[in-house]
Amino acid sequence: MTDRAATRSGDSKTTNQQTQSGYRGLIDTHNEELVIVLDFGSQTAQLIARRVREQNVFCQLVRHDLSVQRIRELNPKALILSGGPASVYGPGAPQPDPALFDLDIPILGICYGMQVACRSQGSNVIPGKSREFGRTKLEVIADDPLLVDLPVESTVWMSHGDQVEDLSEHFRPLARTDTCPIAAVKHHIRPIYGLQFHPEVTHTEFGGLLLSNFVKKVAGCHGTWKISSLIEREINMLQQRVGDDQVICGLSGGVDSSVVAALLSKAIGKQVSCIFVDNGLLRKGEREEVERRFTEHFKTDLHVVDARERFLSELAGVDDPQKKRKIIGRVFIEVFREEARSIPNAHYLAQGTLYPDVIESGSNPDGPAATIKAHHNVGGLPEELGFELIEPLRELFKDEVRAMGHELGLPDDLVWRHPFPGPGLAVRCLGEITQHQLDVLREADAILIEELHKAGLYRQIQQAFAVILPLKTVGVMGDDRTYEDVVAIRAVTTNDFMTADWFQMPHEVLGHISTRITNSVRGVNRVVYDISSKPPSTIEWE
Ligand code: XMP
Repeated sequence: MTDRAATRSGDSKTTNQQTQSGYRGLIDTHNEELVIVLDFGSQTAQLIARRVREQNVFCQLVRHDLSVQRIRELNPKALILSGGPASVYGPGAPQPDPALFDLDIPILGICYGMQVACRSQGSNVIPGKSREFGRTKLEVIADDPLLVDLPVESTVWMSHGDQVEDLSEHFRPLARTDTCPIAAVKHHIRPIYGLQFHPEVTHTEFGGLLLSNFVKKVAGCHGTWKISSLIEREINMLQQRVGDDQVICGLSGGVDSSVVAALLSKAIGKQVSCIFVDNGLLRKGEREEVERRFTEHFKTDLHVVDARERFLSELAGVDDPQKKRKIIGRVFIEVFREEARSIPNAHYLAQGTLYPDVIESGSNPDGPAATIKAHHNVGGLPEELGFELIEPLRELFKDEVRAMGHELGLPDDLVWRHPFPGPGLAVRCLGEITQHQLDVLREADAILIEELHKAGLYRQIQQAFAVILPLKTVGVMGDDRTYEDVVAIRAVTTNDFMTADWFQMPHEVLGHISTRITNSVRGVNRVVYDISSKPPSTIEWE
């Protein structure tokens, strides 16, 4: 697929090498059936892993050149070779360990992965007449376990420049499209398959079925991996690891840290102390909401630190977005450290690092190399804090964390909450932050979210928020001319936050939001809607 979307540079990285202490290794299958995805640099490699996990089969991403010896140790039931931006015949094109295809493990090559597999067995890969990008009709031309229940004709998603030509005598074609006569293949003797299209993307009509057929019918997986058994396992592990020590948990109010807190609370109850820092950059009523929820759902100790003045005075006069982020990161660590010192016997620090952060940090020797996404999370606390890290979500994707939150009994509105960035409203008050702007932003944001809930749209959107612009525009109210703030509304749909589309919000809903904001938020006379996708824009405005 296309190259990964670039994100702004300089954001601090969450995942921390400190995890080495008590570190369980990226792949710890706990006797689960495992499918491994070899990542050749595709933008959708993570999506493949998620789709496989939807079949209740545990799946992890590894570097494309992981040695066959290491693969044997991991004992996977199947291997999937992802797509990638290179040409298999180009100089320096990423290649797997050549002995990979001699393993007697089912292999599915997708796009570039299919070309690598076919080429390794003597087929030719050439540049296609033109790049093929988008939906196309697939015609099935053979019977095979991979194709069970697939209709003869269906829609698939293509994204490739090269294609396989001159299939070696070892392979037989299973399906074709108008422009790609070899769109799916199977090796005669070895369990090697290839798909030129992308079954992992939702535009491929029966993509889920194809992946399910591969892991279950071809590779013989039973699909026993479940969130509930994962919770039990995590609780047991936490109990064993922590013993009688005390664990500190940084609570941000979002779903990840809440799920961590819920797990800890279930596993070790009173041995957990949660710290919530009010940095003055929170949304309307957020601190009160966290306190209320906390007492309802957790049996643990909560420390709320009121650091509003400290943050705001450090941010006074600063208008550069990266400087703001750095200040917030530094002050957060100072405040957190001071509070943590007041907790006796604290030996561990728990945080909600997710699997995509682990992959993207390149922090694991088996995992793919670090990619562009230097993600950012409030929990990025430095090594010198001197705690051992506990990261119970480091194997999970966001949707799995939500499922876990649901199983743990957290309320739906928390489980489905849109993400909120660590620097909070600071990156939504463009330029210098003032108390007035924060107040306006809180009110406007609360109206937006309320209207989205009312319209039943909140769950269709992955992130929505208001932004206050650093300029004033002319308006008219009654007979008077006004010169006031502009609020921008942003709402996006996205799978992974690395790319995103602006949400096609019904005009009626936009109208309600705009009218309510200009009528009831003092100081705002104009509301605009952001219709930019990512790329080229980012989701946040700063
Ligand atoms: P961008 O703006 O990079 O955002 O397209 C992608 C996702 O990351 C969130 N984001 C942040 N989260 N600290 C965070 O914890 C940050 O500095 C930060 N910047 C962006 C953003 O809200 C979106 O979900």
